Amino acid sequence: MLATRLVAPTRSHVLRAAPRAFGVQLHSQRFYSDRVAKFHGQKNSDGKYTVSLIEGDGIGPEISQAVKDIFEAAKTPIAWEFCDVTPILKDGKTAIPDAAIESIQKNKVALKGPLATPVGKGHVSLNLTLRRTFNLFANLRPCRSVAGFKTPYDNVDTVLIRENTEGEYSGIEHVVVDGVVQSIKLITREASERVLRFAFQQAQEIGRKKVRVVHKATIMKMSDGLFLKTAQEVAKDYPNIEFDAELLDNTCLKMVTDPIPYNDKVLVMPNLYGDILSDMCAGLIGGLGLTPSGNIGDECSIFEAVHGSAPDIAGKGLANPTALLLSSMMMLRHMSLGEYADKIEKAAFDTLAEGKYLTGDLGGKAKTHEFAGAIIDKL
Ligand SMILES: NC(=O)c1ccc[n+]([C@@H]2O[C@H](COP(=O)([O-])OP(=O)(O)OC[C@H]3O[C@@H](n4cnc5c(N)ncnc54)[C@H](O)[C@@H]3O)[C@@H](O)[C@H]2O)c1
Repeated sequence: MLATRLVAPTRSHVLRAAPRAFGVQLHSQRFYSDRVAKFHGQKNSDGKYTVSLIEGDGIGPEISQAVKDIFEAAKTPIAWEFCDVTPILKDGKTAIPDAAIESIQKNKVALKGPLATPVGKGHVSLNLTLRRTFNLFANLRPCRSVAGFKTPYDNVDTVLIRENTEGEYSGIEHVVVDGVVQSIKLITREASERVLRFAFQQAQEIGRKKVRVVHKATIMKMSDGLFLKTAQEVAKDYPNIEFDAELLDNTCLKMVTDPIPYNDKVLVMPNLYGDILSDMCAGLIGGLGLTPSGNIGDECSIFEAVHGSAPDIAGKGLANPTALLLSSMMMLRHMSLGEYADKIEKAAFDTLAEGKYLTGDLGGKAKTHEFAGAIIDKL
């Protein structure tokens, strides 16, 4: 007898999760116009954009302060709106307070410090809740070597885009019989097309001539096959971008052997592969502490450092704000304020390369505000 104990994926369940993919539009339907995830924020009457700021827990307030100080010194046209996302439970589920949701929906963009996930209080990860609340469908993770911080490879400059809403993380699992569990890997043409178009757009915006899909369609012929086929179709709309595909295991082997050939590409892939490969790329440049990221949605986008709240050093002024600062550079570029991003980024990389004011995690002795001060001096 079939014993379904958890979430049995009835046809209607899967249909809800993939509303349009099973209909008549299954073949060759185009779901998206050329431009996805465009920033729709408006300037205030004082010429500034308001950005929701989630300072976060642990070291979050310290690194956020460093970013605010640097933005002020660079005369960046940004007004911060403080956003409290201390979780609430609504009908037994973790939820973001309404005021925070309204702020992000109004401003269309947020910068977020790390959030500690409360353990054992019935809460799911707030990061996951934010991603679901705002349908942040793409996770953009650039990894660029930091001059002055020695790692096995110099000049790494990878750009990886992960589909953020489905695949192996669709959360549809059930017990078939005792000791046999099934987990559904959901791939839809619509979500695939959305993230793939974003990847091609991103390549155009950052001046890369190649997009590569990383997949395992040799084994998962239908699911990864659909992702790959959709990529081949989307690629036709971007004739100036060279498109190819590579098997995931091959990518891993080649990247850790020599990452430099990946510097001219944007890599795009389904959820699980992106989760793993993006951390592998972070490892190539010295770890999560230096890695920025953007969670991109059609309505709103949230930019954040990849590291956690570092409770062991919180409140001591020892935290390195580089990852949050680089995330805020991605945010500025998303908002078409690239000239400010270029200026601040150069000052930050020059400060790191000089090595006089490095924080403890990079082998230096500087406090957070001293590192920020050195960047400000260069602006
Ligand atoms: N995106 C997020 O909001 C996010 C990501 C990961 C973990 N978390 C949460 O953060 C909390 C702590 O997690 P963890 O300890 O596993 O990972 P962590 O990233 O907070 O810390 C790991 C190590 O790296 C160091 N570190 C991290 N960021 C640093 C920085 N900017 N400067 C200097 N040193 C830094 C810490 O001191 C610690 O030794 C947990 O509650 C976890 O759920 C949040």
